Amino acid sequence: MNNKIYSIAIDGPAGAGKSTIAKLVSKKLNIEYIDTGAMYRALTLKVLRNNLNPLNKNDVIQISKNTEIDFIKNHIYLDGEQVDNEIRDNIINNNVSYIAIIEEIRFNMVKLQQKMAKSKSVVMDGRDITTVVLPNADFKFFITASVEERGRRRYKEIKEKGKTDITLVQIIDEIKKRDDIDSNREISPLKIADDAFVLDTTNMTVDECVNSIISIVKGGI
Ligand code: DC
Repeated sequence: MNNKIYSIAIDGPAGAGKSTIAKLVSKKLNIEYIDTGAMYRALTLKVLRNNLNPLNKNDVIQISKNTEIDFIKNHIYLDGEQVDNEIRDNIINNNVSYIAIIEEIRFNMVKLQQKMAKSKSVVMDGRDITTVVLPNADFKFFITASVEERGRRRYKEIKEKGKTDITLVQIIDEIKKRDDIDSNREISPLKIADDAFVLDTTNMTVDECVNSIISIVKGGI
């Protein structure tokens, strides 16, 4: 592999395994991983901690102006505090789509993400990476899986954290709701870029997905 700076853009719906796969790809290729969903989640955490209504656009925009979101060594920081765990709470899952729908918020996040990818090789995942953030990415992937399988994966993750007050049916319903908001919003909806390689992971292991991405990338660098 030569020393050229390159970017791998990954989009896909909630719970498709993007982050798990992207993280492993970044490790194997020794490049940085940027989880853009975590950035929207961190802002959601701040909004909720300040008892603001995520549906109140003006309040959200206002507080975002005094908010710093950063990645340091693959950890997400909100105003200097590492919030890797807090942003995975179910209350964040259920509110983040309302924050991610706001045009001004997206505009600033996209600028920040483009800056992050400018000077180094990255693998970046989200909903609008292949279409808006890095439309000229060297490699584009759309990672998906059936809604039932995505629900099962998220359910397992939640149970492993010791949470017992939610059912699989509830999780699947929440994912459907989030898919609906993410795919039908006016600004930067989740869609498959014409030039993206589609990976349906419903019946694939994590290793199979990672290897398939690595072989495409290695063949193209
Ligand atoms: O991938 P995730 O579940 O962590 O994403 C959290 C939410 O953020 C998701 O509902 C959609 C939104 N999002 C977005 O709109 N654009 C991105 N680039 C990443 C995430």
